[in-house]
Amino acid sequence: MEHILQQYQTVAQAKVTNWFNVGNVNNFPENGGACIKYKSKQIAVYNFTRKSQWYACQNLCPHKMEMVLSRGMIGDASGIPKVACPLHKKTFSLENGGNLNGEDYKIATYPVKIENENVYIGFTD
Ligand code: FES
Repeated sequence: MEHILQQYQTVAQAKVTNWFNVGNVNNFPENGGACIKYKSKQIAVYNFTRKSQWYACQNLCPHKMEMVLSRGMIGDASGIPKVACPLHKKTFSLENGGNLNGEDYKIATYPVKIENENVYIGFTD
């Protein structure tokens, strides 16, 4: 299982070498998540219209290694955009992937950009 987790590494915007087009903005639900596939990775993409922001992170919840985060509830924790896993409600920052319950779990986050109504996620591979 560890090798599945290890393929998810946070990508800083300045390090992006490949902006991958994942579809039109209208294909993504407002204030919810969707899952896309990039190579062997599953990436959760959130159209957070309440904050007028888009976020992307690994779909894999590191708690029980379930591919579920795209189905999580998004919200705000004192100004930090967050996603709560639908299974046991562990909560992660969508800005830096840190766990907001004070636990040792962390998720990888990816930059998102919108151009001409298309959604792009940044990767380094
Ligand atoms: S599997 Fe996500 S919180 Fe348990």
